[in-house]
Amino acid sequence: MTDHSFDLVILGGGSGGYAAALRAAELGSSVALIEKDKLGGTCLHRGCIPTKALLHSAEVADSIRSSEHVGVRASFDGIDVAAVHAYREGIVAKKHKGLEGLIAARKITVVRGAGRLLDDGAVAVGDDRYRGTNVVLATGSTSRMIPGLEVDDRILTSEQALALPDVPRRAVILGGGVIGVEFASIWRSFGAEVTIIEALDRLLPGEDPALSKALERAFRKRGIVARTGVRFAGAESTGSGVTISLEDGSTLDADVLLVAVGRGPVTAGLGLEEAGIELDRGFVRVDERLRTTRPGVWAVGDIVPGLQLAHRSFQQGIFVAEEIAGLRPTIVPDSLVPRVTYSSPEVASVGLTEDQARAAHGEAIVVREYNLAGNGKSEILGTAGLVKVVRRLDGPVVGVHLIGDRVGELITEGQLVVGWEAHPEDIAPFIHAHPTQSEALGEAFLALAGKPLHAL
Ligand code: NAI
Repeated sequence: MTDHSFDLVILGGGSGGYAAALRAAELGSSVALIEKDKLGGTCLHRGCIPTKALLHSAEVADSIRSSEHVGVRASFDGIDVAAVHAYREGIVAKKHKGLEGLIAARKITVVRGAGRLLDDGAVAVGDDRYRGTNVVLATGSTSRMIPGLEVDDRILTSEQALALPDVPRRAVILGGGVIGVEFASIWRSFGAEVTIIEALDRLLPGEDPALSKALERAFRKRGIVARTGVRFAGAESTGSGVTISLEDGSTLDADVLLVAVGRGPVTAGLGLEEAGIELDRGFVRVDERLRTTRPGVWAVGDIVPGLQLAHRSFQQGIFVAEEIAGLRPTIVPDSLVPRVTYSSPEVASVGLTEDQARAAHGEAIVVREYNLAGNGKSEILGTAGLVKVVRRLDGPVVGVHLIGDRVGELITEGQLVVGWEAHPEDIAPFIHAHPTQSEALGEAFLALAGKPLHAL
């Protein structure tokens, strides 16, 4: 065994781990970043980036199909799946190369291999031991599988779905959360018949019900079938397809079944509990400053209970690097983390839903909705949708909820407003460029301030 000493040893080179490494190196620390696969983790290689590339191919297909509506003659000749994958892989490869370059430029030592925490706090990789004054755990998450089901060429998780060699003719998606909704959108645009099975009573059950309702309406128009409030009973691969049975006695036949019922933390077999790190249902128990139960060991990203989002991981990685450096960074609660589902239409939100605001503040809240039908730019783009804003009575805006094409790019304004606890009266004087979709947010804030312009 050879011992190596660093200021910071990080286990996991995904969004949380590499963000911690970059920031710590910037602050002058020596850093070892241990990664058994590729730097960039799930988000870069199997999640955010490749799925958004597929969603862009899907958007282009839809634009071509509807081009005549805007007076452009074009014909849709189909999806070249191999070319779609080449485009997706090209994007990922470029980002990966950029990340490797950045890590090297910051003089971070990358250790290629699987690490395991030892009782004395060092991280073992093969015959080497990496000792850090501080250690950050950032091992991420993996798709959950329904007990009794196994991945094969018909039963898939998002990882296999991403690289499917053909567009399925009929796809069933188990789970109407973020992954289920994004893949439904992609496959429908690529020409598949899609059915989503969701146990709860609506799609995207974590979002405000107004957004779920609008999304279900938009999906219905697109021909995506959403079967909500129905429980899954079982699935069987038949060689040529898969038969899915539901607890209401019905069955569905499909070419593929995508299981998208959440992601679980990767914490087993890493020596964590033996080293005195408490877990809670597999997640790492941390305090609000991301300290685990072992002094000098921190955790960031999907292994920390809460929203499993790459930008939350980045933020937590930066936070821990700064905390270790004694900079006392600000804690960002999950309620201030923006959420975007990149389907067509997109769904984006930050802060409290109407129900959460009522639970927190009783009846002392005010809610306004602004329909994108009144927004010129949305009309031009041909997208339906809405803005829903929630404020405390005579108080700040506590929630912003959006649905419509491209609204993911608008949520930043909502995030600033909610994060800075702005009152609608303070925001009202700020004009929004005309014609933009951002005007819809401006209109909603005007309505909240009691002086609607184009709304009633
Ligand atoms: P999720 O937690 O968002 O949704 C899973 C859904 O499956 C839930 O609505 C749940 O009610 C349903 N479900 C669970 N068991 C079921 C059953 N037996 N039958 C029917 N429905 C069932 O998880 P998802 O979509 O797998 O995503 C995993 C994580 O990845 C999420 O935390 C998400 O935030 C993250 N992610 C984020 C993206 C984004 O920000 N755009 C994109 C993709 C994933």
